[in-house]
Amino acid sequence: MNDLKRSLSEAAAAAFQAAGLSPDFGRVTASDRPDLADFQCNGALAAAKSAKRNPREIAVQVVEQLKADPRLASVEIAGVGFINMRVSPAALAARADEIAADERAGASLLADPRRVLVDYAGPNVAKPMHVGHLRASIIGESIKRLYRFRGDQVVGDAHFGDWGFQMGLLITAVMDEDAFIAALMDKLPDAPRDFSDADAAKVRAEFAGRVTLADLDRLYPAAAARAKEDVEYRDRARKATADLQNGRFGYRLLWKHFVDVSRVALEREFHALGVDFDLWKGESDADPLIAPMVRQLEDKGLLVEDQGARIVRVARPGETKKKKLPDGSVIEVESPDPLLVVSSEGSAMYGTTDLATILDRRQSFDPHLILYCVDQRQADHFEQVFRAAYLAGYAQPGGLEHIGFGTMNGADGKPFKTRAGGVLKLHDLIEMAREKARERLREAGLGAELSPEAFEETAHKVGVAALKFADLQNFRGTSYVFDLDRFTSFEGKTGPYLLYQTVRIKSILRKAAEQGAQGGAVIVAEPAERDLTLLLDAFEGALSEAYDKKAPNFVAEHAYKLAQGFSKFYAACPILGADEPAVRASRLTLAQTALKQLELALDLLGVETPERM
Ligand code: ARG
Repeated sequence: MNDLKRSLSEAAAAAFQAAGLSPDFGRVTASDRPDLADFQCNGALAAAKSAKRNPREIAVQVVEQLKADPRLASVEIAGVGFINMRVSPAALAARADEIAADERAGASLLADPRRVLVDYAGPNVAKPMHVGHLRASIIGESIKRLYRFRGDQVVGDAHFGDWGFQMGLLITAVMDEDAFIAALMDKLPDAPRDFSDADAAKVRAEFAGRVTLADLDRLYPAAAARAKEDVEYRDRARKATADLQNGRFGYRLLWKHFVDVSRVALEREFHALGVDFDLWKGESDADPLIAPMVRQLEDKGLLVEDQGARIVRVARPGETKKKKLPDGSVIEVESPDPLLVVSSEGSAMYGTTDLATILDRRQSFDPHLILYCVDQRQADHFEQVFRAAYLAGYAQPGGLEHIGFGTMNGADGKPFKTRAGGVLKLHDLIEMAREKARERLREAGLGAELSPEAFEETAHKVGVAALKFADLQNFRGTSYVFDLDRFTSFEGKTGPYLLYQTVRIKSILRKAAEQGAQGGAVIVAEPAERDLTLLLDAFEGALSEAYDKKAPNFVAEHAYKLAQGFSKFYAACPILGADEPAVRASRLTLAQTALKQLELALDLLGVETPERM
C-alpha cells in the first residue's frame, strides 16, 4: 500500500521515462501552494539542465502523459516548468478507505528490516540526572518506538553508568563516613573462594541497613566536590575505582548494593515518564570483555603507550587542530584526540567500556546499527569510540551513529537548573509538570466530572505530554527554553492541545456509538474533507522522514497538523448532524481514522492519551 506521494511519483517517473528522460526526475512532493495544488513535481527543471533542453517543453510532454492518469483531476504547468497536480475526489476517497481499513493507519513497513540497538537515557549510579539525560530519554524512547513500528528489530538499552570514577568516589565516601563498613572492607577476603553466597547475602543485608538511596544522593555530590579540591582524596577515589575494577571483593559487594539501590529508583522514575527499557545493562557488563579486548588491540598494533596510559590513535594523517598551551603558545595536535583505553592507574575509562560494549552487543544481538542517543556535548567522545571500533573491525563503517541533541535551557540560556541552582531530579520535574497540569485542567474547566483518581491520572498524562511534546516538536539538534507555562497550555503547539483534541474525537465517537451510528465508505466533497484526507495520506511520508533523519519532530509535526486538520474538519463538516446517511457514515469513518492515526503518532512520541478530560 503506497501513499499518494509515492504512487504519484511512480506515475511521474514513468512519464519522464516515456519522454526519454531518467525516471529519477519523477519525484513528487506535497505542494508548497495547497491553494493551487495537492502535489507538485519539479523534475522538469533538473531534467532540462541535464538534457540541455527547455524545461517547459519537457513539462508539456510529462503532463501529456500524466493527464491520462485517472486519479488526477488536473495536471498543470506553473512558472518555468513546475508541474502541479490535483487528485480527484474519487482517488482521495479510495485512499481514505484504504487508510481507514488499515490497522497501521496508512503507514508502510520497511522492505529490509534491520537489527537496531538504541542506547539511550544513560543514567548513572548516584550522579543526579541532568537535562541531557532527560532529553536522551525522551528522544531515545521515541526513536526506539519509531524504528520498531517501521519493522526493525529493536532493542533499547539504558547503558547504566555504573563503572566509572563515581563508583570509586562513592566507595571512598561511604568508608569515610561509616567506620563499620570501612572495617568490613578490610576484613573481607580478597578472593571470593572461601566466601559462600549466604555470606555475601549477609554482608549485603548490612549494607541495606546502612546505606540508602538518600545516603547516595547526599554523599555523591559532596564527594565529587571534594575530589575537585582535594588531591589526596581524589587519588584515594581513583585507587578505589581501580581496585573495584580489578575485582576487590568487598568493593564489588558494596558496589552491587549501590547499583541495585539506584536502579530500582531510576526505573520507577523512567516508568513514570513512559520510558521503559528492553535491556538495562551497565557499563560494568562490558568489564569481562575489556582484558581480552586490550590484548587484541595490542595484537592489532592499535594500542600505544602514552605517559603511562594506553591509547588508540584515531586521527588520520593530516587531521589536526590548534591547541593552546598554559603558557599561551599554540601548537598543532592530532584531532580527534586519541581514545584513552587504560589509564595510568590501570582503570578502564568511559571510552573503554563503550568500546567493549560494542563487542558485547555484537555477541548478544549483532546489530546492523547502534544509535547512541546522547547529548551533543559528547560528540567528540563518540567520534573517538567509533573510529577506534572501525579501526579494530568491531563494527562496519556506518554501523555506529551518534544521535546528538541540543540542551533544554533555562531562561538564562544555560542548561536548565532548578531554582536552587541544582540539577533537576526527574521525579521533581514530573511533579512540577503534573502540578501545572492540574492547575491548567481546572482553569479550563476540564476534569470536573472525573473521580479524584482519574483526575490525577489525567493530570499526569497531561504533564508528561507537555514535557515530551515540547521536547520532540523541535528538531533534536536545536536547543529550547524550558517554559512550563507554555508547555502546559491547551492552546498552540503543545502536548496538552493534542491530548485535548484526541479526547474530543473520542467523545464524539462515544456519542456516535450511543446513537448506533456506523462508519461507511469515505466521500470527499467538502474542502475540509479533502484536506483531512490529504493529511491522513501524509502520515507515511512523515514517518519515513522521521526515520531517515532519526528525528521525531517530523512525527510531532504531523500529529499537530492532523489535530488541527480534524478541528477544522469538525467545524466545517457536522458528523452526526449531517443530513445524508452516507455523508454521516463517511465523516464518522474519517473521524475514526483520524483518531487512530493520531493515537499512533502520539504513541510513537511516547505520549499516552486519556479517555476523558
Ligand atoms: N552515562 C553517560 C553520561 O551520563 C551517558 C551514557 C551514554 N551512552 C554511552 N554508550 N556512552 O554521560
